[in-house]
Amino acid sequence: MISPKLVLFALTLSLLAAAAPAPLADDLEPTRIHLRKRVSLTRSDGTFDYDEAIRQNVKTANKIRRNIINVQRNTGQLPSGVIKIPAIATLPSRLLVKRQKVPLTDLEDDSEWAGNITVGTPPRTFFIDFDTGSSDLWIPSSSCNTCQGAGKALYDASKSSTSALKDGTFEIEYGDGSSTSGPIYTDTVTVGGVKATQQYFSAVTSESPEFVGDPADGILGLALPAISNLGQDPFFVTAFKQKHAAQNEFAFKLNTTGSELHIGGTNRALYKGSLEYNNLSSNIGYWQIGNANALVNGKSAASGFQTIIDSGTTIMYGPPDAAKKVYAAVKGSQVYDADNGFYSFPCATPPILAFTWGGKSWDISPDNFNLGETQSGSGRCVGALVGKDFGLGDDVWVLGDSFMKNVYTVFSFDKKAVGFAALE
Ligand SMILES: *[C@@H]1O[C@H](CO)[C@@H](O)[C@H](O)[C@H]1NC(C)=O
Ligand SMILES: *[C@@H]1O[C@H](CO)[C@@H](O)[C@H](O)[C@H]1NC(C)=O
Ligand SMILES: *[C@@H]1O[C@H](CO)[C@@H](O)[C@H](O)[C@H]1NC(C)=O
Repeated sequence: MISPKLVLFALTLSLLAAAAPAPLADDLEPTRIHLRKRVSLTRSDGTFDYDEAIRQNVKTANKIRRNIINVQRNTGQLPSGVIKIPAIATLPSRLLVKRQKVPLTDLEDDSEWAGNITVGTPPRTFFIDFDTGSSDLWIPSSSCNTCQGAGKALYDASKSSTSALKDGTFEIEYGDGSSTSGPIYTDTVTVGGVKATQQYFSAVTSESPEFVGDPADGILGLALPAISNLGQDPFFVTAFKQKHAAQNEFAFKLNTTGSELHIGGTNRALYKGSLEYNNLSSNIGYWQIGNANALVNGKSAASGFQTIIDSGTTIMYGPPDAAKKVYAAVKGSQVYDADNGFYSFPCATPPILAFTWGGKSWDISPDNFNLGETQSGSGRCVGALVGKDFGLGDDVWVLGDSFMKNVYTVFSFDKKAVGFAALE
């Protein structure tokens, strides 16, 4: 069970409070960003894309590792429950080689939940993955050699009249064991109609094949300041402080079609009933809510855990023991890949996995739980809950798009809470 370090929790809350002046303006409308679909772990023939799933595991592990380092640097302590900084996660070399050979045209269909932002004056468009599991904005630099020719938009500070170079460097670790760093700038950033001036971000000067092959140019982090690598306010916090966002919250609908990020409010047309808000329990800068329970076909299979709601993660991860308990409640389930935490179940009888935080029980549809058949005709399908120890402690789960696709999700700085509602 988590025992939050109250000092850090108070720090997080004070950061939140500092970011909440009374919003201005009747003329400020919430703004919508159209999103494209995230990379799929199911191939077009309905089978499970094992290699892509391994890449996602490694990417998520390294993002979480970097967040842990950032918290330690920003607060002087490791997040509660974290014993040590995890090692860099690496891909098997065969996957790195394969990725390099994938022609870019093949990636058109499996774009991420990404949308356009602009950076600089005059504005330059970047296609960005919106990530509620990190807190920094980074885009490729015009001096990034590995980014050239990969169809990426590049940031050239000399071509923006509002650009300013800042001290320090930004770092990202990759699955090939390498890392990159980039200089830090401030510039004007707009997401939909919402603008932040003098927004901190990094322009990275190299990328490993796993990011070069990614259809998005970069990432915009939407989590709280405590996990910022730059040690600065993330985009939305800046925009709200500058009174450029109508309300101090943003919301996602993720689906095959009609996905959107609503900045500075919620879109009433996209959900029905009321929003169920769950107070943040995090002491580490995540959109983290506690007192969670997992149910399989209506029966509790795990309870009293913490959940990080992360739009930048494709599937769902629980600690290995907890995932084991959940699958023990799934009739006919088997371990599919013990090393990587994958389980399979009979495709004909998918379980209904649901999460509850003390209120309503939020079901994951069989389609969203199913990552595809282990091989064509096997009759066994891989589940979207994976047992993986990311070093966050033994009661922290990460719920990504496989969960978020089933609900309307509101991330509220105002209420210091994550809200869920049924999709319209
Ligand atoms: C992003 O902008 C480009 C043009 O710069 C456009 O072709 C594309 O459709 C836009 N994507 C989204 C998801 O809005
Ligand atoms: C999600 O997308 C699918 C496929 O386009 C569509 O059939 C379904 O109605 C959508 N659901 C919602 C809630 O928008
Ligand atoms: C959530 O936090 C608010 C204050 O922000 C408090 O009034 C409320 O009682 C909390 N709810 C729960 C269930 O703890």
